[in-house]
Amino acid sequence: SYNGLAVTPQMGWDNWNAFGCEVDEELLMNTAQKMVDFGLRDLGYHYVILDDCWSDGRTSNGSLQANAAKFPHGMRYVADQLHSMGLGFGMYSSAGKYTCARYAASLGMEKQDAQTFADWGVDYLKYDNCYNEGQEGTSMLTYNRYKAMSDALVATGRPILYSMCNWGMDYPWNWAQTMANSWRMSGDVYDSFDRPDARCPCTTYDCRLPGFHCSVMNILNKAAPILNKAQPGAWNDLDMLEVGNSGMTDDEYKTHFSMWAIAKSPLIMGTDVTRMTPQTLSIYSNAAILAINQDPLGIPALRVWQSPAQRQNETYSVDAYTASETSFWTGQLNGGDYVAAFVNAGPGPATMMATMNDIFIDQVTTGSNAPVPQLMQTWDVFDLWANRMSDASAQAIIVGNMTMATNATDGSNATSTL
Ligand code: GLA
Repeated sequence: SYNGLAVTPQMGWDNWNAFGCEVDEELLMNTAQKMVDFGLRDLGYHYVILDDCWSDGRTSNGSLQANAAKFPHGMRYVADQLHSMGLGFGMYSSAGKYTCARYAASLGMEKQDAQTFADWGVDYLKYDNCYNEGQEGTSMLTYNRYKAMSDALVATGRPILYSMCNWGMDYPWNWAQTMANSWRMSGDVYDSFDRPDARCPCTTYDCRLPGFHCSVMNILNKAAPILNKAQPGAWNDLDMLEVGNSGMTDDEYKTHFSMWAIAKSPLIMGTDVTRMTPQTLSIYSNAAILAINQDPLGIPALRVWQSPAQRQNETYSVDAYTASETSFWTGQLNGGDYVAAFVNAGPGPATMMATMNDIFIDQVTTGSNAPVPQLMQTWDVFDLWANRMSDASAQAIIVGNMTMATNATDGSNATSTL
């Protein structure tokens, strides 16, 4: 990690998905308290991230200042309160003239703003891409905008996790590992499993422009070809979780959560934590899935196959949406374990099969030195949603410990055979 942070993907909560601009000190404090009370902090959800719409321009000396009606005690107070609760404080700005909601942002003001954040006790910065004055593209223009803030944060001497929000526009997975802890790789997630949306035609490059919203399956399919670009300290950010926001079934939310976790995306809760259903809390609290996300090897699971298979060799710029498909994903974990996930995004039940060759394919796709499995070994197979030995274990003929996350979506019965 370039700054020693996010050696495993960052975890926390951000107000944007559930509240948008309706954010104030009281919301952050109430949420933080519930994160402690519900055990979410102790499960690893560390950062309370304040998204857009917090500011009231700049003071006469040019420093960013908080909206005093929303934050009557100021930002230093918010940080102190969160720190006293054992939580971290996340802040938001843009590498542009304005934030996406047209508040003051940090282009050209990087040093002063980074110092302001450090003085306030900020531990995390989400840094957006709006109003960038045309300084974009795969030339150095984007790089320079994001590097300026990266350097400014490091120069404060305060450890501040740096979360880039370039929406994948400029292929940050090819260049951001040495300057940022994570980078967004798509337009904004919205609360739908696979429904195409007028705001998300997502058939072209344009679906990464601001204002384009992407379903869970759309983001997942886009992420598949680039998942191996992540490494400890530098993660693909599939965007904040929608779990609990009521646009999907609980099975769909389990798939959303599972796949973000095994992709080694940051896990940032995006719902109203103070009013969660028990089902929502239990999804966010699945300790086995969280342990895979936080596995010390930091190797993202990869998609081994999908059906229909026409986009096996897709590149990022090609349409990555299908209405109906099944897929199989696997990844290496610490201690000789593997995660395997069957995803059924189709309209009905599906039977899926994977061979042990499928499971060990990451040796081929990442070049990593997974231990070659011995034949005729016996593996333990755990279903991480049923929290029990899987029925599939009876048919497993291999050895070691294998961890498996499966679940059906759309009310169907995904069947796993090993
Ligand atoms: C962009 C980002 C979102 C959110 C909003 C705030 O759309 O991608 O995650 O931060 O801006 O305006």
